[in-house]
Amino acid sequence: MDHSQQAHIHRVLIASANPLFGKGLQKLYGERWGKNAVEFILASSMGETLAKLDSWQPDLVIVDYDDKTIHREEFLSHFIAGDRPMQVVLVSLQASGAVVVYDRHTLTPAQAENWLNDQWQQPSEPKSAQRSAPMKGNVKHLVIAGLLVVVSTFILYFLLANIGLLPVVASTQAITIDRLFNAHFFFIALLFSLIMVFIGYSLVMFRSKRGEQADGAYFKGNNTLEIIWTIIPLGTVLAFSFVGARNLAETRVAEPQALNVTVTGFQWAWVFDYPDYGITSRELVLPVDRQVLLSLTSRDVIHSFWVPEFRVKQDALPGENLVKQLRINPNRIGEYKLLCAELCGGAHANMNAVVKVVSKADFEAWVSKEVSANLTDPVARGQKWAENNGCISCHSLDGSKLVGPTWKGAAGEEVTLADGTTVLSDDAYLLKSIVEPNAQIVEGYPASVMPGTYSQLLTDEQINDLIAFIKTVK
Ligand code: CUA
Repeated sequence: MDHSQQAHIHRVLIASANPLFGKGLQKLYGERWGKNAVEFILASSMGETLAKLDSWQPDLVIVDYDDKTIHREEFLSHFIAGDRPMQVVLVSLQASGAVVVYDRHTLTPAQAENWLNDQWQQPSEPKSAQRSAPMKGNVKHLVIAGLLVVVSTFILYFLLANIGLLPVVASTQAITIDRLFNAHFFFIALLFSLIMVFIGYSLVMFRSKRGEQADGAYFKGNNTLEIIWTIIPLGTVLAFSFVGARNLAETRVAEPQALNVTVTGFQWAWVFDYPDYGITSRELVLPVDRQVLLSLTSRDVIHSFWVPEFRVKQDALPGENLVKQLRINPNRIGEYKLLCAELCGGAHANMNAVVKVVSKADFEAWVSKEVSANLTDPVARGQKWAENNGCISCHSLDGSKLVGPTWKGAAGEEVTLADGTTVLSDDAYLLKSIVEPNAQIVEGYPASVMPGTYSQLLTDEQINDLIAFIKTVK
């Protein structure tokens, strides 16, 4: 011990009406530091305490927490008004021998000595400086736990994203939905890590040592923490609802050339009607990269249309006024399974249907096959081909002049061509006009307007049907 420290005798004012309180503390301090290093004064009343505070100017004031005659507020306001830095602690001596220092910790006698030791090291330091040591420890724990949270989040997110929780993506709606799913996976990983890492870290790091009997620190509340843990989840939920609403709108964008299909559910099967083609099918066949507008209805109870690969889902409700719509843009050729996603009775689990997403050509071929199976009359079939292939948007059926000549009365007539010659409009002429449209241009019509591709688009049988139909337009 050097000279200057020896010269300074620490002055401790003990305020308590109970003489045993002062004696007990005096003994603790005396044993630790020796009688010559510390000077004690006992004050047994409020007035005495304040008088000693002014006249004697102690380094440390110890107030008996359990003594109701010492008014702590009055004492502290007097103390704060003074200009000398001092330390004040509220102490309660308990029958067990423990020293309770309020607003701090419950200490065992051994720990109390260490704590007293700390008090003497820096007797006149301001209070904030005393706090710096535990604060540094807290920051260290927070940094370590924070890093563990980050590592755990990324590992969990990687696992969630790679264990195949989501089926294959077969529609553009699925891309949108999966974006949300992935955001949710990330937050699930983050929240799980946030909770589990802090619990696990605390279990390991703050475990009580062998023989340790003391209580943990007492916290009455932490406004900052409570505000943070209210605002962050609130903001997260609001952000998700906003993103969710936008994504929902994105999955419902309507395209004008959507294929119409009416879906009817009943106990326990599905049936699909294609009103544009007059087809009724037990399989849902869809062309790739073209939007389908499903109109869903039910004959009996509530069913639900769900193809997991398309992600979107919609109930099919009984009742003519309750037709629900669902838009899907299939973007992957393949065969999928339609499931009923609403418990609808005994065979609900078997209420499945085959969904085929096929190329445009395969879809056209399927339509042709279905339609020709439906229609035995070549004229009726021909009309269907004319409608489905856009013929009648250029060739009117009522004699009006569109891009090409009208079909009304076109067959069996003498036709004047652009070169001035005439030709009889027989089957051979009509056939040539379809498969080789620029060979003979009718007078008054521009050349090279009609595509020369119908010989590939249509089968010979379909062309024969078309000719049969044209001959009936009178
Ligand atoms: Cu229909 Cu379940």
